[in-house]
Amino acid sequence: MKSLRMSKTGTTRRKIMGAHYTPRPLADFLADRLACKARDSHQTPVRILDPACGDGILLESLLTRLQDSGILHHCEVVGVDPDPLVLPGWERRMGRFGEVHRQLVRGDFLDIAATRRGETELWQSRSGDPTLEHAFDIVIANPPYVRTQLLGAKKAQQLAVRYGLTGRIDLYHAFLVGATEIMRAGGYMGIITSNRFLSTAGGSAIRGYLARNYEIEEVIDLGDTKLFDAAVLPAIFIGRRRQEAPMRRARTRAQFIKVYSHRDRGAKTRDDTRPTTGIMEMVKDGKPGLYRTSHGLFNLTSGELIIGRDPTKIWSLTSREEAAWLRRVRDAAFGLFEDVAVVRVGIKTTADDVFIRSDWNTLPPKIRPEPELLRDLLTHEDARRWTVPGTAHPSALVLYPHEVSRGRRRPVDLERYPRAKAYLESNRKRLQRREYVLNAGRRWYEIWVPQNPDAWAAPKIVFPDISPSPRFYLDLEGYVVNGDCYWITLRPGVPRNIIYLLLALANSSLMTRFHDLAFNNKLYSARRRYITQYVAKYPCSDPGSPHSQKLIALARQMVRETKRDDQSEDHPLHAELDVVVQRTFGLEPAE
Ligand SMILES: C[S@@+](CC[C@H](N)C(=O)[O-])C[C@H]1O[C@@H](n2cnc3c(N)ncnc32)[C@H](O)[C@@H]1O
Repeated sequence: MKSLRMSKTGTTRRKIMGAHYTPRPLADFLADRLACKARDSHQTPVRILDPACGDGILLESLLTRLQDSGILHHCEVVGVDPDPLVLPGWERRMGRFGEVHRQLVRGDFLDIAATRRGETELWQSRSGDPTLEHAFDIVIANPPYVRTQLLGAKKAQQLAVRYGLTGRIDLYHAFLVGATEIMRAGGYMGIITSNRFLSTAGGSAIRGYLARNYEIEEVIDLGDTKLFDAAVLPAIFIGRRRQEAPMRRARTRAQFIKVYSHRDRGAKTRDDTRPTTGIMEMVKDGKPGLYRTSHGLFNLTSGELIIGRDPTKIWSLTSREEAAWLRRVRDAAFGLFEDVAVVRVGIKTTADDVFIRSDWNTLPPKIRPEPELLRDLLTHEDARRWTVPGTAHPSALVLYPHEVSRGRRRPVDLERYPRAKAYLESNRKRLQRREYVLNAGRRWYEIWVPQNPDAWAAPKIVFPDISPSPRFYLDLEGYVVNGDCYWITLRPGVPRNIIYLLLALANSSLMTRFHDLAFNNKLYSARRRYITQYVAKYPCSDPGSPHSQKLIALARQMVRETKRDDQSEDHPLHAELDVVVQRTFGLEPAE
């Protein structure tokens, strides 16, 4: 098993199989939570399933607890895994529990659960009771996490159809549905997944499914605690399978816990932290506050999981205090960013190696595109707070073959640009491989998402899609924005100086807190994701209020000084700006 868990070749294999094995403390934690459910179960036998069992660490943790409670002989265990290499590990771990009836099913759980063909006898209970056929009392799992890119769009679509899900689904969504369908009403699911389903648009179908099918007991967002070496942040879901979907939305009594790393310059001297031996110890303790581990400081928040009237919408993991703070900010807001501005993603060429270069002038003159078509391109590498310094230019230029004529965007006529034409022709094969461009009735040399060429000239705020802290900056130069960044322009008729108000608000500490609480979508290393659906929902203050006017003046000054002096992003006026933003939303500086 060592080779499976640790080897180098195992890394690729692990990505394909989605095999990020559960560390012992997490396995024990989940087993603790489910063992008491099994103890209280009046079913005989208690049927337990791990649909992606690997070498069986989760089942081993659970069975150890059931053995200690003296009910092991009542239990039947089924593990499923297609990987032949898990067998020795499974045998070793399960061999300890001689008295328990156990089966390892070699195969693809999603096929088996959907068709229930071929392996039927293994799903049946030993008791022969037909009502128990296929029905499990406890599901414990850490299903594979396979990125949609690796899974392939076709497979993802097939799974969506097969499991009645919609939208952009991940593999673990199908596992959640597949395992639920073979559970007894009243049975318990305890499962470790990516935390993404809680807060992303792609998670909406599975959120709806879980809320309909479970009395949710607990959701634990393990955030950026690095319990795994997987690229995704993990979460635990524990729920009781409902008899039937509720007629109307039942209030959830679910609890949530979330744990994220805490970065604070004064952290070393803080005396309000509790020592703990590890993340799962912290979660067991469950008290909100800061904990000190050997890997640094972590903040635990807990409270009631808030699922709105429409359970497909983002589930909110905010404590009572955090929810009250969010309410105050929202109530004090005049409107949202989207009321006065449009937030868009940058261009997507789908052939960056052809269209985006920083070495155009090294090309032979015959194929060096005409300067009119080469435009400065802002990428995440240019991103900094407030503005691009006056001395700096974007590092890349994009060959931008689009123009506006009579108010409509169109591809340029290449006959007018013979050198650009020659360059593009020399890449024709590569560009024509983008069949979707041709199938959409577009020219072979077009950029896939060029946005509106006219809009680049307007004053705009640009920001990178991923950043540890807000890096919203003003561009008055008419640069084009790349697809790793987003950009904000004012709606027609909105006074021009409002762009400075949005800039001040977006870069403030209050908005960073709002972002974290409202969207709960942090990545590893305390990085945040900044996308249209979040930034468009930022609260905006009344532009006519004295506080807003002050913010406009401050932001103008900060842009000016950053540009002139090439100042660092930590402008000395930032603390003052933060205080004014707090007041704008009716809060005292420390609130
Ligand atoms: C995240 S690992 C978890 C393994 C183990 N339960 C644990 O907690 O350490 C996911 C497991 O799912 C298995 N797997 C991948 N695709 C599967 C499928 N379609 N059906 C069942 N298991 C699958 C992998 O081989 C891997 O052992």
